Order: sequence, then structure tokens, then C-alpha cells
Amino acid sequence: MSRVLIIGAGGVGAVVAFKCASVPEVFTDIMLASRRKAKCDKIAQTIGGNRIQTAQVDADNVEEVVALIQGFKPDLLINVALPYQDLTLMEACLRTKVNYLDTANYEPRDVAKFEYSWQWAFRQRYQDAGILAVLGCGFDPGVSGVYTAYAAKHYFDEMHYLDIVDCNAGDHGKAFATNFNPEINIREITQKGRYYQDGQWIETLPMEIHKGVKYPNIGERESYLMYHEELESLTKNYPTLKRARFWMTFGPKYLNVLNVLQEVGMTSIKPINYEGKEIVPLQFLKAVLPEPSTLGAGYKGETSIGCQIRGIKDGKDRTYYVWNNCDHAKVFQECGAQAVSYTTGVPAMIGAMMVLTGKWNGVGVKNVEEFDPDPFMEKLNQYGLPWNEQIDQALPIEQ
Ligand SMILES: NC(=O)c1ccc[n+]([C@@H]2O[C@H](COP(=O)([O-])OP(=O)(O)OC[C@H]3O[C@@H](n4cnc5c(N)ncnc54)[C@H](OP(=O)(O)O)[C@@H]3O)[C@@H](O)[C@H]2O)c1
Repeated sequence: MSRVLIIGAGGVGAVVAFKCASVPEVFTDIMLASRRKAKCDKIAQTIGGNRIQTAQVDADNVEEVVALIQGFKPDLLINVALPYQDLTLMEACLRTKVNYLDTANYEPRDVAKFEYSWQWAFRQRYQDAGILAVLGCGFDPGVSGVYTAYAAKHYFDEMHYLDIVDCNAGDHGKAFATNFNPEINIREITQKGRYYQDGQWIETLPMEIHKGVKYPNIGERESYLMYHEELESLTKNYPTLKRARFWMTFGPKYLNVLNVLQEVGMTSIKPINYEGKEIVPLQFLKAVLPEPSTLGAGYKGETSIGCQIRGIKDGKDRTYYVWNNCDHAKVFQECGAQAVSYTTGVPAMIGAMMVLTGKWNGVGVKNVEEFDPDPFMEKLNQYGLPWNEQIDQALPIEQ
């Protein structure tokens, strides 16, 4: 018997709630809380069966979250609100001695910069309180770290080259929309690129490095080197890595619209005065773009996300590619969502299950690759994100 509190009723939150509700043997009591209770109620109603309790909460306010936790008494809090709320939610969990899990690392509102330092700073206090925080348990970060840990455990003595490849070959039919929170998404992709090589971080201009990569069942798609947060923890946890990079696909139309928006100043996070009121252009842009949770209907095509790794096993060169393809339309049929929300929400549910069933345990603040990957990999197959692997074949990123 376990109680879980989900914070954030967006695209990802809806999937987490749906998936937790479908596993009553683990998640006996579920509460979904968000900035707007009406959104939680709508999700709870769609799931039905009186499985989900709902509440309103401002996750920026530690006292409010503490009061909510004290009322519901969860065993674990799943944070699928925005990265801005990571620190307040971690603080509230610390004060109430409740385990914590999220899918994206903290970002300050006024600087488009994400890194683990702020959350890793909670390590000692979480250890002292005897509770556990699992960081970055979506797909990437999340499954990308579990895949890497699985590769390290079963296939390599030393991993040398890691490429995380993320393709969305889907078409939602909208002129322009982002697949997860528009503000967070646009902040991420307009930043400079960065990758790790021989102990150093090499910075690139945004979208400067790109190449065609062949994705299983999809074909070749132009893929752009970006900085992504799991590179920070993976290069620390696997010090034999000589190089680690992250690639994501973008279509020409998406990039074109994004360029125009950037050039006219709509992606800026610097507040401006508009008719006597201070507004942030990117937040205004978010308000006029479709919400990620509404993109599912009619979305066609697949995502394909995986890790391509080169290294050594028993003194010989080895290559390994592990990936999942996820079909937008199938996801919509199952739970009314689109594949990007689904590929994030399912791993968050599985991570919660790992903690609540004691498969992942310990205290402190940990990234997903620090746990045993095997039980998580098994559940991916069971709960909708089956994976495939290729051993000792040419890697698509290098062709
Ligand atoms: N690791 C991965 O693979 C991965 C992939 C995609 C997304 N993510 C992460 O998943 C998270 C959710 O993404 P999403 O696509 O579901 O975004 P979304 O649709 O915009 O949902 C975010 C939800 O958080 C709520 N929220 C925002 N501020 C809040 C506050 N102060 N208090 C309480 N609730 C608040 C929003 O409320 P309103 O509805 O009232 O605005 C909304 O319901 C993001 O952090 C994103 O970075 C991770």
C-alpha cells in the first residue's frame, strides 16, 4: 500500500496519473495537485473510478506544499510541474520527510541555464533526513541514464563514446507547437550547444553542429547537437567516457518559425513593459501556443530515442545501441496523450514504482543511473515503452 502525490497537471502529469491509476497494487492512493484544480479534476474524471483525489497548490510556495503533504501524507512526491519548482518541492519534501522524484533539473527563471548543482546541494540534508530524491526520471533525462547504466552493467568493461539520439518524426498538423511546456522547451533549444570531450566541455553556437542520423523504422533525420542535463551526471558517474553528446531532430519548418520568433524578440526572457504591465515575451508566446496536453488528437508518426555507445568488452571493441520507438497515435488511443508526454510520464511512474516497492532504495539525492537498471528495464517492456538493442553493429550516428 502506498500513497503518491503528483504535482503538475499538464501533458506529462496526465500520463503519470493515468499510469499510476492503472497499477492499484502499487499506487493505492493518488492525489493530483496543480496550479489550477480544474485541470486536475478533468484528468481525474477522464481516468474515472474515483482513483484520483485532486487539489490546488502553488508549487512555488513551500508552506502550501508542506500543508498539502501533511494533509495527504504521501510516501512519494512526483514533480511533473516545471523545473522552476524543483527546489521548493525538494524543500517541502525535506521538511516533511517524504521521498521525491522529478523529470527535469532546476532552472532559475531569470537565466536560461540548467545544471544539477542546486539539487545536488540537497544531498547531505536528504541523507540526514533518511529520505531519497530521484532526479531526472523521464525519458531523456531518465531512460537515457537507465539505458547507459544497463549498457555498463551488461555489455562493457569501459564505455568510451556515448551519443544520446532523440528523434520526433511525428506530425501534429499544427503550424507551430512544442511537445512539452513551450517556455521550458524554447529556453532549452535556443541555448548554446555543449558536449563533453576528453574531460572538457566544448561549447557550440545553438544548432551549429548537425548531421543526418538514421533512426529505426523512421529513416534519416537531421539531428542537432544540443546540451542536455543528463550529460552532466553521466560523465561524472562514468568517468571512462571520452566523449558524450546529445542530439535532437528538428524539421526545417519548426526551425524556420523558431528563427523568426527569435529574431522578432518573442523568445526573450527579459521582461518588457507593455501598456503599463511587465510581461516576459516568451511567457506571452507560451500563452498563445497550443498546450502540449492538447496535441494528441490526429498526431501521426513515431518518436525514437536511444543511446549509441562505443567502448571495450573483454579487451575487444564493442558497440551497443538501445532504443525505444513510440507511436503517437497508439499513445492517444491508450490514454489521450501524445508520445512526448507519454515517454516522459511512463518512466516517472516506473521510477515511483521502483522507490515504492524498494527496488530502488537508499537515502540522499541520486540520478537514475546510480540505481540497478534491470528492474526498471523490465517494467519499460511491461508498461508501454518496449526497447530494442543491437550489439556489435555499426552505429547509425557514425555512418
Ligand atoms: N525528462 C524528460 O524526458 C522530459 C520530457 C518532457 C518534459 N519534461 C518535463 O516535464 C515537466 C512537465 O512538462 P509538460 O509538458 O507536462 O508541461 P505542461 O503541459 O506545461 O504542464 C506543466 C504543469 O505544471 C503546472 N504548474 C506550473 N507552475 C506551477 C506552480 N507554480 N504550481 C503548481 N503547478 C504548476 C502547470 O499548471 P497550469 O496548467 O495551470 O499552467 C501545468 O499543469 C516539465 O518540467 C518538463 O521539463 C521532461
